[in-house]
Amino acid sequence: MPVDVLIGLQWGDEGKGKIVDVLAPTYDVVARFQGGPNAGHTLTFDGLKHVLHQVPSGIFHPHIINVVGNGVVLDPVVFRQELQKLTDRGVAWGQNLYISKKAQLILPSHRALDRISEEARGNTKIGSTLKGIGPTYQDKIGRTGLRVGHILLPDFQKRYQEAVARHAREAGFHHKELEIEPFEADFFSAVEFLRTLQLTDTEYLLNDLLAQGKRILAEGAQGSLLDIDFGTYPYVTSSSTIAAGACTGLGIAPRHIDKVYGITKAYCTRVGSGPFPTELLGETGEQIRQAGREFGSTTGRPRRCGWIDLPALRYAIMLNGVTELHLMKADVLDSFAEIQVCTHYRLPDGTRTPQLPDPGDLAHVVPVLQTLPGWHTDLTQLTEYNALPANLLAYLEFLERELQVPIRIVSVGPDRVSTLFQ
Ligand code: IMP
Repeated sequence: MPVDVLIGLQWGDEGKGKIVDVLAPTYDVVARFQGGPNAGHTLTFDGLKHVLHQVPSGIFHPHIINVVGNGVVLDPVVFRQELQKLTDRGVAWGQNLYISKKAQLILPSHRALDRISEEARGNTKIGSTLKGIGPTYQDKIGRTGLRVGHILLPDFQKRYQEAVARHAREAGFHHKELEIEPFEADFFSAVEFLRTLQLTDTEYLLNDLLAQGKRILAEGAQGSLLDIDFGTYPYVTSSSTIAAGACTGLGIAPRHIDKVYGITKAYCTRVGSGPFPTELLGETGEQIRQAGREFGSTTGRPRRCGWIDLPALRYAIMLNGVTELHLMKADVLDSFAEIQVCTHYRLPDGTRTPQLPDPGDLAHVVPVLQTLPGWHTDLTQLTEYNALPANLLAYLEFLERELQVPIRIVSVGPDRVSTLFQ
C-alpha cells in the first residue's frame, strides 16, 4: 500500500511543508489534493526559506514527481509567480511537475466574489484569505466551474466571459463593478504560461505509477478543523482537508492508503474567525506568538495562539486514522515555566467531555487544563531524540497516552536539520 497521507490536525499552519520536505526523499511522488493559494507551506534549508502556495513541497527534489491533483483550485497567476521564484532560485521544476486537467481554475472574478461575500457577512466574517477559494469550489459543486483542461479548448475566452458575466449577475453587479479589468491581462498571460506546462489526467499518471510500485506522499493543506464537513462550520475552508480527501482529490482508491501522518504543533494556533477553546488572549498568547513567529505565511495576519487541545486532536486523529504524530515547534515553548494541556471541555451544563461538541456549542465550552512543568532548555541545539530534556519527554509521553498514537517526529526549529526522529 504505497500511498501515505500527511494531514494537519489543527486549524492549519502546523508545519506540514517542512515535514513533506523532510520525508520526500523516501517517496517517488508528492501530490497536493485540495486547497489552493490559501495555503502557505514553508520549507527552510541551506539558509533559505521557501514558501509554497500551490506547488507541491517535493519540488526541490529532482527525482520526485510533483502532482497538483484534481481536488485543487489553481490560481494561474499565483502559480506562475511561485514557479518564477523557483526558477530564480535555480530549482529545475520543468520535468517533474504535472497538473490535473480536472483541477478548477480560480478566476479574477472568484477573488472579487470572495471579497464581496466576506464583506456581506458583517459580524460573522469567516476571515477568508480572500484568494477566491470558496467561490471557486462553489462553481465546482454548482457544475459551472472552469477546469485547467478548459484552457486547451479554442472557446476558452468565450467560456471565461460567460463565467464572469454569471459572477457579476450573481453578485447583483454590472460586469465592470467587479473591478477585475486590471487583473485580466495578467490572468490571460498566466493562462498562456499554464498551457506550456504538463497538463494531464493525473489520476491515470498516479495509478500507473502505483502499478509500477512507486510510493506516493499525499500532501494535505489547511487542517482537519477547517474541513468543510467536520471543521468548525461555517468557519472553515471549502474543501475536504482530511485524509479521505486524498482519494477524491487525486483519484486514488482507499485501499492504496497506508500510513497517515498527523501534524500538530506543541501548542495551537488559528487564523481567521471561529471558536478556539484554548485561545490565550493575554500575555501568554503574545509570548507564544512572538516566540513562534505566528504570523500568516499567506496573509501576514497575526495568528491566534493557545494551548494544545486534546479533544480537538482526538477528533482529528479519529477522522483521519492517524498512524503517527509529528509534534512541531516544540522549541517555541522552551522558555515557559509551565505548559498547559486541555484534556477535556466543560460544557455549559457543567459536564465534562473528551469530545468535540457541535461547532455552535464549541464557543461556549471551558477548557479543562492540566499543567505540566516546562523544560527550560534550548531545544534548537539538539540533534538526537534521546537528548530531549526529561520534562519534554514527559510531555510527549503524556500526549501519547492521552491520544493513543505514537509521536515519531519532534521538530525543534524551522530548518530541515532540526527534525528529531524517535
Ligand atoms: P479560505 O480557505 O481562504 O476561504 O479561508 C477560510 C478559513 O480558513 C479562514 O479562517 C482562513 O484563515 C483559514 N485558512 C485557509 N487556508 C489556511 C491555511 O493554509 N492555514 C491556516 N488557515 C487557513
